[in-house]
Amino acid sequence: MSESVRHLYVHLPFCAHRCGYCDFVTVVGRRGQHAAYVKGLLAELELEREPLAPQLETVFLGGGTPTFTEPRELERLLAGLPAGDEVTVEANPETVTPALAALLRRSGVNRVSLGAQTFQPALLSVLDRVAGPDDVRRAVYHLRDAGFDNISLDLIYGIPGQKPSDLDADIAEALALRPEHLSCYELEAKPGTRFTHAHGEELQRQAEAMEGYFACVVETLVGAGYRWYETANFCRAPSAAEGRDLRSRHNLAYWQGRDYLGLGIGAVSTVHGTRWRTTPRLGPYLTALREGQRPLRELEPLPDSVRRAERVMLGLRLDEPLPLAPVAEELDARALSRLERLGLARRTSFEGGAGVRPGECEDALTLTTRGRLLGDAVTADLLA
Ligand SMILES: C[S@@+](CC[C@H](N)C(=O)[O-])C[C@H]1O[C@@H](n2cnc3c(N)ncnc32)[C@H](O)[C@@H]1O
Ligand code: SF4
Repeated sequence: MSESVRHLYVHLPFCAHRCGYCDFVTVVGRRGQHAAYVKGLLAELELEREPLAPQLETVFLGGGTPTFTEPRELERLLAGLPAGDEVTVEANPETVTPALAALLRRSGVNRVSLGAQTFQPALLSVLDRVAGPDDVRRAVYHLRDAGFDNISLDLIYGIPGQKPSDLDADIAEALALRPEHLSCYELEAKPGTRFTHAHGEELQRQAEAMEGYFACVVETLVGAGYRWYETANFCRAPSAAEGRDLRSRHNLAYWQGRDYLGLGIGAVSTVHGTRWRTTPRLGPYLTALREGQRPLRELEPLPDSVRRAERVMLGLRLDEPLPLAPVAEELDARALSRLERLGLARRTSFEGGAGVRPGECEDALTLTTRGRLLGDAVTADLLA
């Protein structure tokens, strides 16, 4: 029998406006459609519910701007979703009022991920952001007052016009808020966005500085007591967090190759060896669900070889050893030896892996700090 799915992603696409650099599936405004969309999500849940475990490990509401959704509808949605041990909502700082924070809390949300991006007003305006630095701080205070003890901040670096001292200041401002978790993303120039069109040349110049920025982010956050547990993600180390493991359990599920169900427009699901992406178009999505039908979806074949390659690409982003036996077929042994010689990868063995008898060891692989800083290029080299 197939294992139950324990991770649920729900996409809430509505935003107050569209930021130039963003190519996520978003819809501006449309307050009149929020109720219909939430009804559609709950109808889709009923159609897809069968493989879900009764109690989920994680539920993640992402966007778009989930907290821009009409509060009544957001509350209705949260009440209709299955319970989860970790329930995360992405929020834009300017939407976090005391009332919104209280709504999230009483609806079972126990983790909030806030899109701060930068604390420099000039850089926020380059990114077309609505929130100012004070909105970010206020949002954190409102969330703390409502009882949230697991807050994540998103930062972006490599913004056109950003100086190294701006990045230092951003990290210091973020640390002053004592977040449990930080995601620090290199700004990606998304093809076709007006941002890439406007800032293409500057972005290329910044590309050369990226490696240095990344190393600075890692060094500063590790120095401040954070665990660099995934390429772009950091959490307070257990000693500074009363023993709690503050990694994002939801994103860990993706990186560890677990199954997940995605609801909403543009959402991706991977369930029992099949992957699909639901239509990103709001109109056809709502029409199908109103008629009791599954919305259109794009199916992606997922042979074992692709799953194994994904396990390598995603697993080596983590700071924990990747068991070698399940992925050995995909690895180029000569490349592996070369990377070991260059001090970029390290073979280890650990006790108690899946399918290993107690007391026996399993071979595993991790990237060294230098290997992790070079990132996907190293991993791509390893794949046969
Ligand atoms: C799905 S977005 C939604 C979050 C929320 N609406 C916001 O804007 O804060 C999640 C995160 O992705 C990151 N992101 C979005 N576009 C990006 C890009 N072009 N390059 C790097 N990071 C990006 C931002 O840090 C953002 O907070
Ligand atoms: S960055 Fe966030 S707020 Fe801006 S358009 Fe994208 S999802 Fe919406």
